Amino acid sequence: MQPEEELKQIAKEVSVCTRCALHHSRKLAVPGEGPVNAQVMFIGEGPGFHENEQGRPFVGAAGKFLDELLASVNMKRSDVFIGNVVKCRPPGNRDPLPEELEACREYLERQIQAINPKVIVTLGRYSMAHFLPNAKISSVHGQAFKVRGRLVVAMYHPAAALHQQSLRSTVEQDFARLPELIQQASQAMQLEEEKPAEPRKEPKQLSLF
Ligand code: URA
Ligand code: SF4
Repeated sequence: MQPEEELKQIAKEVSVCTRCALHHSRKLAVPGEGPVNAQVMFIGEGPGFHENEQGRPFVGAAGKFLDELLASVNMKRSDVFIGNVVKCRPPGNRDPLPEELEACREYLERQIQAINPKVIVTLGRYSMAHFLPNAKISSVHGQAFKVRGRLVVAMYHPAAALHQQSLRSTVEQDFARLPELIQQASQAMQLEEEKPAEPRKEPKQLSLF
């Protein structure tokens, strides 16, 4: 399937998904949105009140702050893909449960495969844990890690920064480093692409004999 079709297909499946209990209380599932050729994906936690009403990611207060953070580094929402680790709103904005994260995991993985971004920015600890299961946000925020061939940059959640003034400047400083990290990632990946092709090693198959 072409990446664009695959993204649409995922959104269609998500809109009627019943894989976890969150489907009982959702109004609209929020598959995420952005161009299929986005070089950067921002992954939040899960839809809140307004997202659940509109079926779109980051349209409430945290979204407004995210727009400001993007603007501060000359990025626009329309340049990037924005999604979440769980696609349906946890009631009362509670934290997503392990079984909900697990049930929804495959959708995000398929979105990443289809978009094939150079950089993934995780917003908050649940999103970070999808890629860096053992990391602590207080020690790794603002840093970049290579995970399965992509750069993963961990950020505090914009909503946390809205509620905690001290985090606000931390998030702003972490965002200020993004353009440099993205540029480094593109250069590193270009170098990899330009390396003389090595004979591809086929994965070993277990012999029956
Ligand atoms: N917070 C999130 O984590 N995701 C959204 O889409 C909105 C708020
Ligand atoms: Fe399906 Fe994910 Fe929604 Fe659960 S949160 S119902 S797994 S789309």
